[in-house]
Amino acid sequence: MKVWIPHEAGLKLLGELPPEVTVEVAGHPDKLPSDTAGVRFWVPPFLSGSDATALLHELPDLEVVQLLSAGADAWVGRMPDGVTLCDARGVHDPSTAEWVVTAILAQLRAFPVFARAQARREWAFDEVAPTDELTGKRVLIVGAGSIGTAVRDRLAPFDVDFTLVARTARPEQGVYGVEELPRLLPDADVVVVLVPLTEQTRGLVDAAFLAAMRDGALLVNAARGPVARTEALVAELGTGRISAALDVTDPEPLPADHPLWEMPNVLLTPHVAGSVRGLLPRAYRLVGDQVRRFAAGQPLINTVVDGY
Ligand code: OXD
Repeated sequence: MKVWIPHEAGLKLLGELPPEVTVEVAGHPDKLPSDTAGVRFWVPPFLSGSDATALLHELPDLEVVQLLSAGADAWVGRMPDGVTLCDARGVHDPSTAEWVVTAILAQLRAFPVFARAQARREWAFDEVAPTDELTGKRVLIVGAGSIGTAVRDRLAPFDVDFTLVARTARPEQGVYGVEELPRLLPDADVVVVLVPLTEQTRGLVDAAFLAAMRDGALLVNAARGPVARTEALVAELGTGRISAALDVTDPEPLPADHPLWEMPNVLLTPHVAGSVRGLLPRAYRLVGDQVRRFAAGQPLINTVVDGY
């Protein structure tokens, strides 16, 4: 059985595999390691898009696509019949949760403002202090999956109040349904968006969503750019009424002349929440386990159904 993975380093990280498994490195669609026939399990490059999905139709024996990303939006609806899609649920929980905590603290404690003042060699105490703080804040987490739970666990020691929202309410776990957002948004000081991009969540953060946020609230998007309507973001953030920390934008990369770059109340990072040094060891541990399950005829985990 042939398995294609995108990283040379992955070869050493997969753990022991059954003798019938041959692993080859296919890092780029233009540089394939061997004949496309016989590839039954394929791991595409991390966060790859339409250039990679084109290869789906050139692998005649393909049975499983195992993503290295938590988000599967670039692949959902594109899978050939009979091919199973699996995401990397769990792999990005620590890194993305860490980015969210960092972004919230940086914005509330005005680190971007101080970094800009440092570049000008300015002691900005009088202009900036006192800053906001995380202690005592009300945090609304929209997306109560494994990353949302990891964010809640890491924020808990900061003495904050949480509300979690998911696609459907889970009253026994204190999780509200997404239809409750209009009622919940005005009470939140920090709104963290972590939902997968699906037809239901595209444009979820629209003008009405933003208008419902309280004055001075912080929006954090570590999901996907198109979960927010960019024009609505530009309009609402442009008033200065709320602020934002965005790891994802629509489009990506954000063009150099885009108005979001210039906004003093916006912290932008280039979709790096999951891109940490621990990514490959964590991701290939999952891939190795999945290949062993597949080779043994056992059910795979993390299968993507209805975009989730
Ligand atoms: C992911 C990401 O989906 O890092 O894993 O955006």
